[in-house]
Amino acid sequence: MTVDSEPQLPILLELTKVSKYFGGVRALHEVDMSVYGGEVVALVGDNGAGKSTLVKIVSGVESPDTGEIRVRGETARLESPRAAAEAGIRTVFQDLSLCDNLDAVQNLFLGQEHCGPVWSGRRVRRHLMEEQAQRVLASLSVKLRSLTTPVVALSGGQRQGIAICRALISDPAVVILDEPTAALGVSQRGEVLDLIHRLREQGRGVVVISHDMKDVRQVADRVVVLRLGSKVAEFRRGAYTPSDLVSAMTGADESTND
Ligand SMILES: Nc1ncnc2c1ncn2[C@@H]1O[C@H](COP(=O)(O)OP(=O)(O)OP(=O)(O)O)[C@@H](O)[C@H]1O
Ligand SMILES: [Mg+2]
Repeated sequence: MTVDSEPQLPILLELTKVSKYFGGVRALHEVDMSVYGGEVVALVGDNGAGKSTLVKIVSGVESPDTGEIRVRGETARLESPRAAAEAGIRTVFQDLSLCDNLDAVQNLFLGQEHCGPVWSGRRVRRHLMEEQAQRVLASLSVKLRSLTTPVVALSGGQRQGIAICRALISDPAVVILDEPTAALGVSQRGEVLDLIHRLREQGRGVVVISHDMKDVRQVADRVVVLRLGSKVAEFRRGAYTPSDLVSAMTGADESTND
């Protein structure tokens, strides 16, 4: 009989020694990172640390110069955003890419509309999309008064909610959020942190880029710290202090040892 240990979470995404150079600029250098289902990994680091580059690589926007990416244990070539989405990785970029003049349903299905058969002129099936929209919004408890209001009229938290729900339409295993709470007020920030908890409860792997250390402490099971393109530290929830994070991000520890 084996002794009960902590439940093993499934590994979804694994980066091994991933490097990326832009000309002479070292954006990422031999970075290892893993993401398990049912956990939130925060990716932190100063400006220029390489966070966006890493996200672009796992979103299929940029390809690494060297290194390996595995999705659910299998080597994956994420050559395009479509390839990344097909591998089950969806990203919500900071600009959210919502169309202000379109309503929530139109935004949720932008580029992934349900269309009828060719003989009907491939008319978009609005009622099917509305039903699915209701389901996805409800799964994250995103509350909208109306599905037909142009999204320009919605709050920042609701817009973030729609952008996250759009990523969920294809039921991805891994969801990456770039600065999801930046530019939000206190209560809306709380709403978005709740959304992140629900993604984790759904068993997804969640990667959150954030500059807000309060958010990171609240939401992250694990924190990966990048500095000048390298991974310099990794902390588990509860196993670090705010000053541990700051020293890792700025390299303060090392400079005092010089
Ligand atoms: N397309 C590019 N061409 C040239 N250099 C780039 C390009 N993209 C990123 N870099 C450089 O790579 C490094 C890492 O940039 P990256 O955008 O990944 O950092 P970041 O951690 O996301 O920073 P921030 O917090 O400011 O968003 C920086 O030195 C940046 O100038
Ligand atoms: Mg960035």
